[in-house]
Amino acid sequence: LSYDDRPIGVFDSGVGGLTVAAAIARTLPDESIVYLGDLLHLPYGSKSSRAVIEFTQAASRFLLEQDIKALVIACNTATSIAGETIEREVDIPVIGVIEPGARAACTRTKRRHVGVIGTHRTISSNAYVKAILEIDPGVTVEQRATPLLVPLIEEGWTEHQITRMTIAEYLSGLSRSIDTVVLGCTHYPLIYNTVADVLPGIEIVDSAETTASETAAMIREMSLSCRQGRCGGYRIFLTDFTDTFRSIGERILGTELSDIRIIDLEYTEGKIGYR
Ligand code: DGL
Repeated sequence: LSYDDRPIGVFDSGVGGLTVAAAIARTLPDESIVYLGDLLHLPYGSKSSRAVIEFTQAASRFLLEQDIKALVIACNTATSIAGETIEREVDIPVIGVIEPGARAACTRTKRRHVGVIGTHRTISSNAYVKAILEIDPGVTVEQRATPLLVPLIEEGWTEHQITRMTIAEYLSGLSRSIDTVVLGCTHYPLIYNTVADVLPGIEIVDSAETTASETAAMIREMSLSCRQGRCGGYRIFLTDFTDTFRSIGERILGTELSDIRIIDLEYTEGKIGYR
């Protein structure tokens, strides 16, 4: 059996990707995780495609320099806009959050009618629609951009009445035949219970969990596992720091975030980079 003690790189625009990192750590407790949150450029969800691609390329280059063995793009916006570009450009396995969520939705929907919620950029890219139809062309997909949810979550109002009302308002026009809804944003696992309350009886796909399962399967299939007891834990890098990152991050990981390193933005030959 061969082993690989290098860390797994996990990238997001901010704190939301920690839901994916936490799910990976639960599924693969022996693996080390290097996390990069691009707080300087957050939110990606309302930026242009060109900007999202450049930021994601810069983040991937930084993580590759940390000698990672696989890259998880733990951001729905970055995956939908820049996922294919990154897959072409790097020579380690790349896992995005869209395909695992799409696969889970196709497996769970009985009436073959799925709803997807996410940022403006994710929804307008149609990435989930394409991914779901590729898996099962018979599934009908209805999407809603739900941009107010990220700020509400960042405010800590995960179970607040206003968050319930916002979800209810956004989803009020969804067809009644929808039986499965994909949480297409890495912040949304934090409002899983509130969405479930507003949509009783509906299957909810948490793409953090599904991405962690696919990462685990890939690590095992490609014999990339760490040796037991050798690895584990997080190293966290940010392009900027906010107290929100620390407070929400600690809630997601259930541990104190003491070791956060801030990296600097640099431009070389017209390209964004981090050092
Ligand atoms: N992480 C982003 C996503 O999953 C949400 C935050 C942002 O807009 O940058 O779409």
